[in-house]
Amino acid sequence: MLVDLTTDFLELRLNNPIVASSSPLTWNVDSALALEDAGVAAIIMPSLFEEQIEQEQENLQRQLQRQAMEPADMADTGLDLASYEAYQDIYFKRLQQLKSELKIPVIASLNGTSAGGWVLYAKQMEQAGADALELNVYYVAANPDETSSQIEQRYFDVLQSVRQQVSIPICLKLSHQFTALIPLVKQMQQLGAAGVSLFNRFYQPDIDLDAMNVVPRLDLSHSREALLRIRWIAMLYQQVDLSLAITGGIHNEQDVLTSLLAGSDVCCMCSALLENGSEQVTRVLHGLQDWMQQHDYSSVRQLQGKLSYLHAANAADYERANYQEVLENYIQQFEQNMREP
Ligand SMILES: Cc1cc2nc3c(=O)[nH]c(=O)nc-3n(C[C@H](O)[C@H](O)[C@H](O)COP(=O)(O)O)c2cc1C
Repeated sequence: MLVDLTTDFLELRLNNPIVASSSPLTWNVDSALALEDAGVAAIIMPSLFEEQIEQEQENLQRQLQRQAMEPADMADTGLDLASYEAYQDIYFKRLQQLKSELKIPVIASLNGTSAGGWVLYAKQMEQAGADALELNVYYVAANPDETSSQIEQRYFDVLQSVRQQVSIPICLKLSHQFTALIPLVKQMQQLGAAGVSLFNRFYQPDIDLDAMNVVPRLDLSHSREALLRIRWIAMLYQQVDLSLAITGGIHNEQDVLTSLLAGSDVCCMCSALLENGSEQVTRVLHGLQDWMQQHDYSSVRQLQGKLSYLHAANAADYERANYQEVLENYIQQFEQNMREP
């Protein structure tokens, strides 16, 4: 039986539900080509970062001021204006290159926390050929005077500013730290978002006891991290009318199958590709096809949302309902193990 793996995401028809999410693999043209050969249906480029644009502009400004004041010392500033290329221009050039080399859609990404002038670059991403845009508002709520509704407004402001710039579909990559995710996503849909991607992984700072200092840590993910995302994908499915992507903990075909059953349109992979190479995509696609054939599914669409909150027989398990039962089962098992060591 032939299996139809196609899916729709951000108004794009994709060959299958596997997308390579932002990482160095989607910046380098050779590794992006390898991902395409291995079967990914689209790539999301690494983000253009608000901080980096602003920092570079400040440095440039400072150096230009110095040059203006001391023209004789131009060489000392280390700035060669003839060959100088701004960070964002390097990004747009790479986007054009990826678009010309790849057949699959290329999604560009903007990463920041405010609706400042940097969002104007969205227009240039569209002009450089991006098929869609992902907005990663990576914001840690550390200000004791900023309320949750003010924080949500940040997301809306960034979305609205970018929406004004472009007509290509926009997807928001969200954090899981929201009180009421479903109405938030609904509002994003009303403001013109074409999709959401759940969830951003926050890289955890650690404390180094020798250095007595806080140090950043980037650990790759594990499959179990997908569970938090699967729950929320299941809750959002058909309660909002936009594309749903899962990102975080998608490593193998089981992760993909469970995400699709919960209701995701696509499954984004990053850690698994960094760990196992692009061949992991081929393995996952074969595994997905085999499982579907064995279980008489002829298309990904048949799977999507079958075990979502609105459709699963025991959907209450996505909520608090069986919390007590789960604890009791664990305690019973624990006590039995104590009796029979
Ligand atoms: C080395 C590295 C670079 C990343 N760069 C970006 C980035 O530029 N923008 C972004 O939105 N996410 C970025 N991410 C996050 C991934 O795209 C992905 O959402 C996250 O790692 C969770 O997926 P995973 O469990 O498959 O790794 C990066 C992750 C890694 C490990």
